[in-house]
Amino acid sequence: MIAVRRADSAKERRDFLAVGRELHEGDPIWTPPLYDDLARTLSPDNPLFQDGRAERELYVAYRGERAVGRVLGHVHHAHNQRHGERAGFFGLLECPDELEVARALVDAVAARHRARGLERLRGPYELTISQCIGAVVSGFDEPASTSQSWNAPHLPRLLAELGFAPVYGAKVFRLDDVAGCDEDALLGDKHRAWLADPRVRVRAWDMTRFDDDLHAAMDLLNQSFAENYGFVPLSEPEVEFFARPMKRLVRPELTVFLELDGEPVSVGMVLPDFNVLVRAMAGELWPFGWAKFLLGSRAVRAGVLQFIATSPALQNKGLMRIVLAELVRRLKAHGFTSLDVTWIGDANAKSQAHMRALGMREKHALTLYERPL
Ligand SMILES: CC(C)(COP(=O)(O)OP(=O)(O)OC[C@H]1O[C@@H](n2cnc3c(N)ncnc32)[C@H](O)[C@@H]1OP(=O)(O)O)[C@@H](O)C(=O)NCCC(=O)NCCS
Repeated sequence: MIAVRRADSAKERRDFLAVGRELHEGDPIWTPPLYDDLARTLSPDNPLFQDGRAERELYVAYRGERAVGRVLGHVHHAHNQRHGERAGFFGLLECPDELEVARALVDAVAARHRARGLERLRGPYELTISQCIGAVVSGFDEPASTSQSWNAPHLPRLLAELGFAPVYGAKVFRLDDVAGCDEDALLGDKHRAWLADPRVRVRAWDMTRFDDDLHAAMDLLNQSFAENYGFVPLSEPEVEFFARPMKRLVRPELTVFLELDGEPVSVGMVLPDFNVLVRAMAGELWPFGWAKFLLGSRAVRAGVLQFIATSPALQNKGLMRIVLAELVRRLKAHGFTSLDVTWIGDANAKSQAHMRALGMREKHALTLYERPL
């Protein structure tokens, strides 16, 4: 007998965070979340849950007193407003390979969303379109890198059995051998012409002007992603909330801006793959602490391309290819051996073509699911 409860008490919230650990016990492919970080993201301190932008509920499934599953149910009002729909999301779904548990969790979210007049249930969505979306449906022998989704192989089957249908596809890619990628060969005549233009400057993140470069990168992201699937611009407080802890972890030499007449018009950002460390720490900063995490992150030789963006007015002129070639050169110079990228929609043929041009291979396919409420 499965009972689903809203995670209102401190114990239930602890169960929500910890239940994944029990379910994935002994699985070397699984990467635990950084528990403190996940708790912060889900807390009311997250500006996403302020000013009516979004709301959320956490649910835990119990068999007797034992937590056996969990799910997040959330509504992103800013999404519904922008995209003219009445969608409710689910995410962070963890359950054993038992339809009964999956059904009880999904039904709890569905009932909540239905009571609020929503019409479609979509997920996994963790937490916004700028983070992880979709369930992994292939590539289960390789772990997720930082900012990539992960779930047990049985999840897509359970969702299909619960009446969900695919609504959007995406992929994550990986370059196993950065040293084997010839950055010069990525550039043709049009790129070299840009590089010879005195108005063009290619540079790294300037940590002495951290805020200026953060806002330049976020402005480019908000402008260039405007037409992408499900996009909702990041608000200023959200950028602050997520970027502040990153200040210590970002590798400024691995974010490349291309400036035209002193204005950043193209950007690509690589972070170290923190998941390599998180797996070694089993998700707990204690007893390592941030200082050791920071030190450990300097030794990581795997990178993850977080996003690429070119100002809409200057797209298809070769600028991103220049940024990517410079990133490859820098990754080599700093001893990075592999490069992953976060999800890219199958509808985004241009971006996927860029990844393939780098020599990347498909690592995981992802599917976003939906069913009527
Ligand atoms: C993706 C993006 C960064 C590319 O930047 P860009 O500066 O326009 O890219 P470039 O001009 O260097 O290269 C465009 C290449 O894509 C090719 N291309 C254009 N449309 C394409 C399509 N539909 N399918 C395949 N390739 C396509 C062009 O032919 C060109 O290749 P070439 O240099 O070999 O001729 C830019 O379009 C953007 O900001 N998009 C929105 C943000 C986004 O989707 N980011 C990716 C997810 S993180």
